[in-house]
Parts: sequence; structure tokens; C-alpha cells
Amino acid sequence: MANTVLIGGQWGDEGKGRIIDLLAERADLVVRYQGGSNAGHEVHAGGQKYVLHLIPSGILHAGKICIIGNGVVVDPIELVHEIRQLRRRGVKISTNLKLSETAHLVMPYHKLLDERREFLKGKGRIGTTKRGIGPAYGDKASRTGLRVLDLLQPARFRKRLKQRVEENNRLLRALGAPALSFEKIARDYLRVGRFLKPFVVNSVVLVNAAVEEGREILFEGAQGTLLDIDFGTYPFVTSSHPTAGGACVGSGVPPGAIHEVVGVVKAYTTRVGEGPFPTEQRNGVGRELQTVGDEFGRTTGRARRCGWFDAVISRYARMVNGITKLAITKLDVLDRMPELKIAVAYRVGRKLLRTLPADLEVLKRCVPVYQRYPGWLSDTTKVRRYADLPKKAQTYLEAIRRETGAPISVISVGPKREDTIYVKNKR
Ligand code: GDP
Ligand code: IMO
Ligand code: MG
Repeated sequence: MANTVLIGGQWGDEGKGRIIDLLAERADLVVRYQGGSNAGHEVHAGGQKYVLHLIPSGILHAGKICIIGNGVVVDPIELVHEIRQLRRRGVKISTNLKLSETAHLVMPYHKLLDERREFLKGKGRIGTTKRGIGPAYGDKASRTGLRVLDLLQPARFRKRLKQRVEENNRLLRALGAPALSFEKIARDYLRVGRFLKPFVVNSVVLVNAAVEEGREILFEGAQGTLLDIDFGTYPFVTSSHPTAGGACVGSGVPPGAIHEVVGVVKAYTTRVGEGPFPTEQRNGVGRELQTVGDEFGRTTGRARRCGWFDAVISRYARMVNGITKLAITKLDVLDRMPELKIAVAYRVGRKLLRTLPADLEVLKRCVPVYQRYPGWLSDTTKVRRYADLPKKAQTYLEAIRRETGAPISVISVGPKREDTIYVKNKR
């Protein structure tokens, strides 16, 4: 029995949903612990493609309890939409989905504020998903947020909402945005509140009961380590804790209840949105990775920036998350590259750095120090055993393992469940 946190070791979109879908087979519960509908986790299962935003990716396995934990910020309108869409496609969603009563709500003014602030920042924008994530977590920290449990108490909800809309309308007007109608928000939210009521639980008690009973829990991180509000490339980050520690505060389980941390990394690096990205390739290599890897955001459709694998950040991700196992995705995307590079350090002036500098002004000046690897120039998509991978691919993977400092347990060579190589002897 092992409770596992699965996190992204880069800037998001590492293929977390795909790996969760594999690991969920063994798990009893799958718990989302942070983020909101900014996430887009694509899973290919049973010949179908799904993109999950708020609902844990374990939902595609019958019989798994999927929990949206207290640390998630929930746009209830989006959630209802997602439930309906999945049901329409034959996914069973009833008592298998649970929504934490203490999760904070994303409100229409959060989305408008997010949009407006981004617009006003101009060139300095973060490139957010405009899903209201920053303002929703801002209200949570300011102790002015509305929570799922408020939705279930119409009179109290209306009273609190009125005050929140009045304050936010003043803010919106000052920022040049239109004011919102309190009545419309109240009507829309109370309607979805009635729909969501059967899913609402005290998730903290539920998850801890599962811990006591020795049931296997999988915690599904969204975003990635470098987007963590404390450990990422601030301010070009999201507003939550995608790192392993976030699983405790975002679900209520104590640290001792977590046994494994799976770090998912792509065999190269991508980033969507603004902010520093030392190994970015704004050239033919980047375009090739983008095209072959189909690197377009699953939430906003934006093109993802692409570059070489960066072991400085994967090493950092191993450190801050305590990664015990690596899952490496999209190896197949590199099949046609004649040469590959891995950044093992950064050079700033005369200094050589093996760790990530906190100051973005320094990070911006960092020049990656690369190790070069010959490409294998052959198709890996049909390979199912590590030993059957081309020797050059094994050398490349071994370099990722060595430079990151964590053993590889899974390698994916395609988006489908079966396109997977399980690595038994923990290389
Ligand atoms: P997440 O946000 O971390 O769950 O990742 P996304 O779903 O946003 O992005 C990962 C993308 O890569 C999805 O479109 C997956 O279907 C796809 N993918 C995952 N693993 C592989 C792989 O091994 N090979 C290929 N070619 N695509 C993959
Ligand atoms: P998954 O779970 C990649 C990025 C945005 C932006 C920054 C802040 O699919 O890996 P936000 O809307 O959170 O305030 O945006 O974070 N971002 C992601 N990038 N994958 C994600 O989720 C992301 N969620 C947010 O592009 O740069
Ligand atoms: Mg994604």
C-alpha cells in the first residue's frame, strides 16, 4: 500500500493526466489538491480522448473515488459543464465524485479581474489562462473568499455575495471593466449549487478515513514545480502549490501518510505563457518539437514554447518534491531528432550554477551548459521493454536519471495507455 503524489517536474503539461490514468488502475482514491480549471489533463482511454480540467483523471476508471480537494479553486459553472460533458460521453459520474465543502469558489469577478489585470500589464503580462485563478486564491488569502459550503446555504450565500459583488464592482470599474449583476450571479451560482449538492462532502474526514483503512490514494498535481507560487519562477507562476507539499495542505492528509512522489517530466521542455525559459529554442528545433509533439495548450489552445531538457530544473524539482520515481513522457517525439541536448548547468558571467537562481534577473542572463547526445533516429512507439529501446535512447534516458538524481519507473512513447514502458529495476 503506497499513497502517491504525482507532480509535474517542469512548467506544466508534462503528461500528468496520462500517467495518473495508468497509476489510477491500482488506486482506490484519486485526489486533486490545487489549481482549478487552468489545468488541462489529456487522457486517451478506450479509443477516446478526454481533457479534464477540474475532475481528477481517475474518473475514467470505473469504481475509483475521485475527490476535488479543499485546496482546489472551483468554478462551479465549469464543473457542472465538465460533469455533463463527460456523462454525455458515457462516463459514469455519481457517488464516485466528491467535492470538498471547503474548496473556494471561482467567481465571475475573479475571471474579469484576471483578464483585466493581464490586459493592463501589457508586455509584463503573466500569460495566465484567464480562469480567475490568481484573484480566487487572492480572496482566499485575504479571507474574503466564498466556499462550496456557502453555495448550499442560499440566504447566507446571497448576503455574502452581495457584499463581494459591491466591492469587486468598484474595483472592476476602476480598472475599466463593466460592473457585474449581483442578481445574475446569485441565480446562476445557486442553480449550480443545487446541482452540485449531492457531491459535496467533508473531504478531509473522507481522505483521512481512507488513510486509516489503508486504502491506496493517488494525489493528482496540476501545473508544475516551476509554476509553484513559492518555488517557481515568480511572478510568472500560478497561485497555488503544485509541489508535493501542496498535497498535504490541499487535502488534509498529514505528511507521514505520503509514501511515494512520482515526478512527471517530458523528455524535452515546454512552457505556455510568459516568463523565463533558459533552454527554449526559438528556431527550427523548437518548431519541430512543437509540431511533432502537438504542443498546443489543452485549456487555451495557445502554442507551447519548446526547448531542450533542462536538468537544472528537474534536479530542483527532485529536491523540492522529494521525487522518488520519475515518469518520462513523450520520448517518441524525439525519434527524428539527429542530435539532442540536455542542460546540466547554467553559466552566468564567470559563474557556473547547478541550482536554479531565485532572482529572475539572474535567471534571464543564464546561458545553459549543454551535454550533447546523438539522436537514435528510429521509431520507439512500438517499444514496450526498456531493453528494446535503441541504445542511444537508453543513454539519453540514463543522462536524465543521473542528472536529476531519481530512478525512472515509467517511460511513455505515445499518448495511449498501451504506449508505455514500465521500468522494473529502477534504473
Ligand atoms: P498534463 O497537463 O500534464 O496532464 O499534460 P497535457 O495533457 O496538457 O499535455 C500532454 C500531451 O501529451 C497530451 O496531449 C497527451 O496526450 C500527450 N502525451 C502524453 N504522453 C505522450 C507520449 O508519450 N507521446 C506522445 N506523442 N504524446 C504524449
Ligand atoms: P496543467 O495542469 C501549463 C500557466 C499559465 C501561466 C501561468 C499562470 O495542464 O499542467 P494561471 O491561469 O494559473 O494564473 O496562469 O501558469 N499555467 C499552466 N501551464 N499547464 C497548466 O496546467 C497550467 N496552468 C497554468 O499559462 O503562464
Ligand atoms: Mg495540461
